[in-house]
Amino acid sequence: MEIFPRTLSDVAQALRTRLSLFEDTQVSLMLTQQKIARASKSENVNAIQQLLQEKSTADVKMRVLKDSIIADCKRCKLCKTRTNIVFGSGNINADLVFVGEAPGAEEDKTGEPFMGRAGKLLTKMIEAMELSREQVYICNVVKCRPPENRNPEPDEIAECEPFLKAQLAIMKPKVIVALGRFACQCLSRSESPISTLRGVWTHYEGIPLMPTYHPAYLLRSPSKKKEVWEDLQAVMLKLKEKH
Ligand code: URA
Repeated sequence: MEIFPRTLSDVAQALRTRLSLFEDTQVSLMLTQQKIARASKSENVNAIQQLLQEKSTADVKMRVLKDSIIADCKRCKLCKTRTNIVFGSGNINADLVFVGEAPGAEEDKTGEPFMGRAGKLLTKMIEAMELSREQVYICNVVKCRPPENRNPEPDEIAECEPFLKAQLAIMKPKVIVALGRFACQCLSRSESPISTLRGVWTHYEGIPLMPTYHPAYLLRSPSKKKEVWEDLQAVMLKLKEKH
């Protein structure tokens, strides 16, 4: 079989084939979006499943998830008090994804995750790993700010978790770092305390998952930074192993 087309008409034919493949993807994507726009709450999981099966790029799928599936989400009571939905940010094709708990005041205002004091510490942690925020992806279990920064409630986590799962299924990172109790328990499907889960490799859907303390906790208990640094060093090694 020839790898490169030889004549101009071969090139044209190859281009036509590519374009028609591209158009098919766009059309089925549009159909997905239309269906989602009409979807009832119970149909959302199906919409996500359908999206995950699309042939499009991770970039396109993340955009559809954000703009068409989550859209102006009113699935739980946090929609009444939020300013912005904090979807997540960074490199969609990253090897490493950090998952936090829920947005705080600064994140609610800007729509970006980890922008406040805990966020600044997370940025330092990422830089200590010789990475930048732009090279990794950062998101939360719950996408809207709980009032007064209270803990997210079980019904809020249950409504929002399918979006986190979809993000991770689209990105398929090499390693996930779960920050704090809610992310650790949610992703490791365990109710064990964070002090037990922390520092012990587990898996989320076949992806190595490192549970560690939340940067907000480190601001209150700086002596725990040493343990988190050990966890992050283990993550750095795991990322290298994979290359
Ligand atoms: N804490 C979190 O868990 N997430 C944020 O985005 C900010 C603070």
